[in-house]
Amino acid sequence: MSYAADSGVCLDRILASTDLSALSKKDATTFTRRLKEHFPRLFDKYTYVYGHQYDCYFHLQKLVEILRDGLKSRKPALKRLDNERLRNPLWYRDEEQVGMACYVDLMGPTLNDLHDKIPYFKSLGVTYVHLMPLYDAPKGDSDGGYAVSDYRKVNPTLGTVKDLEKLASALQKEGINLVLDFVFNHTSDEHAWAKAALAGEKQFQDYYYLFDDRTIPDQYEHTLREIFPQVRRGSFTFNEQIEKWVWTTFNSFQWDLNYSNPEVFNAITSEMLFLANIGSAALRLDALAFIWKELGTNCENQEKAHVLIQAFNCCLQIVAPAVVFKSEAIVHPDEVLKYIDKDECQLSYNPLLMALLWNSLATRKTRLLTRSMKKSFSISENCTWVNYVRCHDDIGWTFDDAVANELGINAFDHRHFLNQFYTGRFEGSFANGVPFAENPSNGDCRVCGSLASLCGLEGALKSNDSKGIDDAVKRMMLLYGITFSIGGIPLLYSSDEVGKLNDYSYRFDDTKKHDDRWVNRIAVTRADTELALGNTSPANPTETASLRVFNGLRKMIAIRKQNAIFGQSSTQILDADNHHCFAFLRENTQGHKLLVICNFSEHVQTIQRSLLATLKGASSRDLLTDETVEMNASPLLLEPFQQMWLLAD
Ligand code: GLC
Ligand code: GLC
Repeated sequence: MSYAADSGVCLDRILASTDLSALSKKDATTFTRRLKEHFPRLFDKYTYVYGHQYDCYFHLQKLVEILRDGLKSRKPALKRLDNERLRNPLWYRDEEQVGMACYVDLMGPTLNDLHDKIPYFKSLGVTYVHLMPLYDAPKGDSDGGYAVSDYRKVNPTLGTVKDLEKLASALQKEGINLVLDFVFNHTSDEHAWAKAALAGEKQFQDYYYLFDDRTIPDQYEHTLREIFPQVRRGSFTFNEQIEKWVWTTFNSFQWDLNYSNPEVFNAITSEMLFLANIGSAALRLDALAFIWKELGTNCENQEKAHVLIQAFNCCLQIVAPAVVFKSEAIVHPDEVLKYIDKDECQLSYNPLLMALLWNSLATRKTRLLTRSMKKSFSISENCTWVNYVRCHDDIGWTFDDAVANELGINAFDHRHFLNQFYTGRFEGSFANGVPFAENPSNGDCRVCGSLASLCGLEGALKSNDSKGIDDAVKRMMLLYGITFSIGGIPLLYSSDEVGKLNDYSYRFDDTKKHDDRWVNRIAVTRADTELALGNTSPANPTETASLRVFNGLRKMIAIRKQNAIFGQSSTQILDADNHHCFAFLRENTQGHKLLVICNFSEHVQTIQRSLLATLKGASSRDLLTDETVEMNASPLLLEPFQQMWLLAD
């Protein structure tokens, strides 16, 4: 069969034999119009990956039917949102946008309870709530919900799909976007597809990577990275029931999907559209770097992974154009950038900024941060970063070794230092963290811990050290302040906003104790939110600190929202002429300029006035203190951990 036929002919043929009678007239028109616009791209991507298979055209036709059904199930309110977002496609670059990620059970504890938390979200200024995976999952260990057994069913302990839809529309009414996970690299071994595979059904065995013996797994394993060496060595798990080796990049109960099978692409598209139609504004593409396997490579960030994500994106453009993709690529900085494109992922986590903020806090030096951001911060104007400080996962030191080398930093030794520093094995460290995924073969390790504990609050409270408490709070403000101001959507990790300390209780839970990331998955209780909202008063130093953190963050968020410069503006990373300081300039088309300067040390630092010249004015105002700063006086002094948000007058 020849696929040389151009996409137009192909689409005409597909449409000629696709029944659109179930669609309303209006939907049918929309559907054909959008297909005309986006099918050529979809055709290119799909045939690039599957064109060599004899049944490619058959699956493409099936895919169009799946898209049709997706549009048919889309609710009128969401269709209105589609049109609204098509008119304002860069909504995510707005200064209004502030995100928060939270676990339903740790914040709710059910979906219905979350309605009561809307005032809390609003008091902080949150406009985007990412609910951590809430789908049906195996009992006990489910990798915090990232082992999905049914994408169309909410975990019964949290509620139902109806509850989720209700919450989505309640949030939308309050101007809050819902963000959901699209966990598409793997399913749990209890998903219906996996169960069918276990029952011996060949069709479903082809949904996964199953091998009769170690021959092929061994070949792959030469070049694979181990993700969770603390739970299992290697990337494959032997399944006794079918006597086969299963590809399991993460936990043994998370089976990698086989995207070389077009049926898998289609089936997952259908699940994706279901999630889009619940009312999510963005889908977080979980572990997207791993979806394509290529022998002889590390099977991360492969070209076809990109092509597949672009193909998924085309499907969304046709059915649910209001929905954008957020890339979760926690990989080498050059690879992170490759997912960011209006036709691939419009949003991306910024793991490099995250890791290097922690690096600068430990070293009190900003050279690596400055040099790396100069190289990697700039992305397409159609896209935006999601800047974060902490999340539910570990901190991996994913900076570019080459950049470190240029600065005379030995990357391996430096990572070792950072791990020691943040796990309390380095004398004089302020941090209370926990090592994660230590790999006995190569000494690799990552770090877990809450914002507050890693910033020194845990230790300072324990030793009743008021200066230590003060410094810890300032460190938290510094890190978050940069995410609020540097450009992109800042994403708060729920429990950070009230400065919660590490929760060590997971060590007594058999389903959690092998996974230290639980130390930073912390409940936000009613007492926490009442305190934050000012309904109760702090009764001890922990609560006093908690309130300081909340109020400090809230104030910075409010300032961000009042100033357009934090929205669609360019960012230029500057050399701050002081090793302890980090600086950048924001500029928008209305000619507004903002200079941000941050001091990462616990000592006063001086900044030469020449840096202020980048603002090209006689004076500026620090938005954080409302003080006027003259541009021509003696050197500028920054207090320990101080940041300045200088808006040119
Ligand atoms: C993502 C999640 C992480 C999970 C992994 C496998 O990286 O953030 O928590 O373990 O994917 O789904
Ligand atoms: C690895 C993966 C990342 C995942 C993390 C979970 O770093 O690259 O996707 O979030 O492991 O710990």
